[in-house]
Amino acid sequence: MFELKKLPYEFSALEPYISEETMSFHYGKHHQGYTNNLNKAIEKDNLQDKTIEEILSKVSSYSIAVRNNGGGYWNHNFFWESMTGDHQDITGNILEKIKNDFGSFENFKEEFTKKTLGNFGSGWTWLVENEEGKLEIINTPNQDNPLMDIYFEKNGYKKPLLAIDIWEHAYYVDYRNRRADYLEAFWNVVNWNKVNNRLS
Ligand code: FE2
Repeated sequence: MFELKKLPYEFSALEPYISEETMSFHYGKHHQGYTNNLNKAIEKDNLQDKTIEEILSKVSSYSIAVRNNGGGYWNHNFFWESMTGDHQDITGNILEKIKNDFGSFENFKEEFTKKTLGNFGSGWTWLVENEEGKLEIINTPNQDNPLMDIYFEKNGYKKPLLAIDIWEHAYYVDYRNRRADYLEAFWNVVNWNKVNNRLS
């Protein structure tokens, strides 16, 4: 059985950038829903003794419910931990690597925004490190992620460093259909310490 992990902060911690209402629904309804449905799906596919990472790495062998809800379960945990209410300026290794691979932090944000706006429909935009140690910005549709065999068998292994949920449920209450405004706000709540830890 997978359990909904406790949020690392209060629902209101990310205000004014992400509202308490959005967080309580997103975590309490959507993430809880993925968790409940994942537990039903793994029972059907007999995967109760596996870790979520093991399941994702062979997801093409299982039902579509395992793919959608397993992705939804893992991605949201990763997303919550990518944010903080204590504003952090970007520093350390990640800043150096971004400058090296994108020219500047401003360029990186511009490219990330373009990628996010180009992700049609519902999905995720990720900052990842590829097998050559280079940073890349990638999109995945629905609840797919780079840990899934359906992703890495085609594109190679990529280590997720940062992710933004661009399903409308993540921003509609606060920003209606204005995804770019949501993204602009997101930069104020990124937990760069966490991103640096993931990099090392
Ligand atoms: Fe979501």
